[in-house]
Amino acid sequence: ITCAAQQQTVVIGLAADSGCGKSTFMRRLTSVFGGAAEPPKGGNPDSNTLISDMTSVICLDDYHSLDRTGRKEKGVTALDPRANDFDLMYEQVKALKSGIAVEKPIYNHVTGLLDAPELIQPPKILVIEGLHPMFDERVRDLLDFSIYLDISNEVKFAWKIQRDMAERGHSLESIKASIEARKPDFDAFIDPQKQYADAVIEVLPTQLIPDDNEGKVLRVRLIMKEGVKYFSPVYLFDEGSTISWIPCGRKLTCSYPGIKFDYAPDSYFDHEVSVVEMDGQFDRLDELIYVESHLSNLSTKFYGEVTQQMLKHADFPGSNNGTGLFQTIVGLKIRDLYEQLIANKATAPAEAAKA
Ligand code: ADP
Ligand code: G6P
Repeated sequence: ITCAAQQQTVVIGLAADSGCGKSTFMRRLTSVFGGAAEPPKGGNPDSNTLISDMTSVICLDDYHSLDRTGRKEKGVTALDPRANDFDLMYEQVKALKSGIAVEKPIYNHVTGLLDAPELIQPPKILVIEGLHPMFDERVRDLLDFSIYLDISNEVKFAWKIQRDMAERGHSLESIKASIEARKPDFDAFIDPQKQYADAVIEVLPTQLIPDDNEGKVLRVRLIMKEGVKYFSPVYLFDEGSTISWIPCGRKLTCSYPGIKFDYAPDSYFDHEVSVVEMDGQFDRLDELIYVESHLSNLSTKFYGEVTQQMLKHADFPGSNNGTGLFQTIVGLKIRDLYEQLIANKATAPAEAAKA
């Protein structure tokens, strides 16, 4: 019997600027799938590819067509499409999706050079993460689900300071300068991709503290596209309603400035979305079960799974606020999407004919 090739690999796109929480998100996602991501065994130690039992993560920096010197010479940044090989990205993601192994290049972040390629076998779930997973239309069409981490400038700055100043010894001036230098290309090539995302996690300064610019307390919005196959948005209390909820009181300990949730339908670019928002931070993570019990459509496998995941990774950045909560929830939704896609494949006529 000849039939159309069955899809082998589920492909997820994760877009964000660098230093905006992609690795943290990936660690939460692989944990939901029941395994910690690790570099491939015996593989190149410079490899950007993380592997767990089910998931391979390709860092799209590997498709830089210009190395660090090349970018300097041509005066283009890594965010510029001219520094990236979208033809190769498309061909390799397409091959992996249809079950064919590829020799993927490796961009070495230490040397700024392209290393010898490595063999990547088609995984069950392929995550392509980086600056441009939704930039090229051909690559975009291969994605079964896409996520954009939208970190506002104020918050990006606060995180960069924490990492580059506290951990890497850069100066405040140099951090400011590097963010400013990236901004035009970020606005032109990275930010517009969010219009294509099935889920956007938007991270903003809190509105609970007037004129806050510390970037410590965060207002986080989970924007979920309506009408996406195998993805049904999470909601608070009652689907489609508009709700503002302050859960602090007898069942949830909140110190200043408290916690506020919002849920409402909205539009984003030109499509319908549902938005769940959390402003503020948790004092006690075990009490999250109270919040979890009021959220519906979480795609958990048992009561309290969100809380369990959050407690398990309490040491990850953002575990006490909406970034960690919504990353965990999106992870569960992706597991659900994967399971539905696989179940659907199993009942497809081609499979039935084989059995
Ligand atoms: P990426 O993979 O996009 O470069 P990471 O997940 O490695 O980003 O995060 C980079 C840094 O940003 C972290 O070391 C941390 O300092 C900061 N960061 C990331 N996510 C959060 C968060 N949710 N809350 C606070 N800081 C965060
Ligand atoms: C990677 C990152 C970029 C970063 C670049 C450094 O490609 O994904 O976000 O800008 O490395 O580039 P540079 O030209 O400064 O070496």
